[in-house]
This record gives sequence, C-alpha cells and structure tokens, in this order.
Amino acid sequence: MIDTIKLDGKLVSASIKEKLKQEIYNLKKSNITPKLAAIIIGDDPASKIYVNTKHKTFKKFGCESQVNKFKDNIKQNELIDFIDKLNNDSSIHGILVQLPLPSHLNSDEILNSINPIKDVDGFHPMNLGLLLKGNPSFIPCTPYGCLEILKYYNIDVKSKSIVIIGRSNIVGKPLMNLLSGSHDIGNATVTLCHSYTKNLKDYTMKADIIIAAVGKVNLVTRDMIKENSIILDVGINRIPDQKSDKGYRIVGDVDCDGLQGKAKAITPVPGGVGPMTITMLLSNTIKAAKII
Ligand code: GUN
Repeated sequence: MIDTIKLDGKLVSASIKEKLKQEIYNLKKSNITPKLAAIIIGDDPASKIYVNTKHKTFKKFGCESQVNKFKDNIKQNELIDFIDKLNNDSSIHGILVQLPLPSHLNSDEILNSINPIKDVDGFHPMNLGLLLKGNPSFIPCTPYGCLEILKYYNIDVKSKSIVIIGRSNIVGKPLMNLLSGSHDIGNATVTLCHSYTKNLKDYTMKADIIIAAVGKVNLVTRDMIKENSIILDVGINRIPDQKSDKGYRIVGDVDCDGLQGKAKAITPVPGGVGPMTITMLLSNTIKAAKII
C-alpha cells in the first residue's frame, strides 16, 4: 500500500496569496485598489455563501468589494443596464455574476454584456476564445486553481493521460483546452467524459490523472482508478449529516477514503480545489487592476 498524498489547496492558496499581497501593495502605492463588483440574484443559499466568502477574502487582503443583490424577478434588460454601469465605472476592475441565474434570465446574454477586460471569471466568449486558441487572458478561476495545484506539487502533465469528467463551460471545457494545449502545464492527452459516456470506468482505469467535476457523490470509486493515479476532486455536494450543527456536510465527487492507499495523491473536499477558486479570483482581479 502506498501513502496517498493530500494535495492541500489551503497550503497552495496561502503561498499564492503571499505573492498577491505584494502585488496589492505595489498597486496601492500607485493609488490603485483592486475592486470587485459581484452580482447575486435571488436567495440560493450556496450562492450567498460563495459571494460572501469572496467579499470577505477581498476585504481581508485590503481590496475593495461591492456586492450587488437583486430579487429573482429582476428583468433581463435591468440587469444588463446595471452591468453596463459597472463596465463604465473606472473604479471597478472586476465584474462577477454569480451563477446559476434564475431560469427566466438568459445567462449567455448576461455574461456577454460584461466588458471582457473586467471579466475576472473568464466566462466571456472572447476570453474563452482566447483560451481555446492557446493564448488565455483571464483563465476561469476553478480550472486556474487546478493548474496551480498541479504546479505547486510539481505534477508533470506532459504526455500524461488525463480524464476529465464533466463538460461544463466553467470547469471541464476550459480545463480540457488548457491541459491539452501547448503550455507549461499542458501537452497532456485529455479525454472529456460526460453523462453520455458509456462505461466511464474504461476511461478512468487508464488515466494517470482524473479530474472529477460533475456534482455527484461517489462518482469515482476505488475500483475505477489505476494504482498511483492522481485525483483532483472539483465536486461540491451537500449530504445530510446529523452529527454536524448545520445538518449537512460537504463532500466531493470522489470517494476520498476509499481511494486511500491506491491513488498517489488526492485533493480533499473541503480544502482542495475549493480554496483555490477564490484565490484565483483575487489574482484575476489584480491582473485586471493592472490593465485598466
Ligand atoms: N457558480 C459556481 N462556480 C462559479 C464561479 O466560478 N463563478 C461564478 N460567477 N459563479 C459560479
């Protein structure tokens, strides 16, 4: 049995934040304070927690953060007009619309209305297009966090076989392009699996690295991986837990306990990819503040 290494997102995050502190300090010397404007619509409890955590992190690092809350009956054109105001406000460097949006809103049209130079989530078609062409500007925060974990732990992906499970625009598709592209952390052979993939295990068994980003508990189990594979768990799922004060706990898409002794390394949930997402948002917003 091997000792499975914990890929500690908090540790990687802390090391990146140290560098970001210096960048924030340098910007402030030039009278620039990085500022994020977040938009949250409706009462989704998970979205509220995410936006609140982003807000607190920005404040903690001496950056500005403005949270704009709207009722879930806001009209499409009202929201786009509001985003336009943020686009034209020179004190704001980054704009983020927390997803998912209520179903009456057209998410694509809303994300397209953000000025690409303030698109710190990297979801605008221009930024996704640049990423697809191999010349990314703003890399979406969760994929970016995955790359930084691989970098920190010196995990070479070149020529490795990587299976990504989940084809979302936020995680799976950007990661597929980044990891297969001609980058420092790239040149891997990437297979993108999804809900229509037959016999998922046939793919995962051959993978050197598995990245699970679906939102399904126990999607990846011990019998599905080969020995010494590396697992990044991007899933965030709430499961009932009477022992917890909240009545639930957070788990990923991977049966982390079950993989111990077989996988070479795993990101835990919580404490793996999750903490990286906010750190990379801070990094993208600092980058925007330098450009604008
Ligand atoms: N919802 C889930 N993940 C994200 C994210 O990275 N950014 C935004 N804006 N919404 C999300």
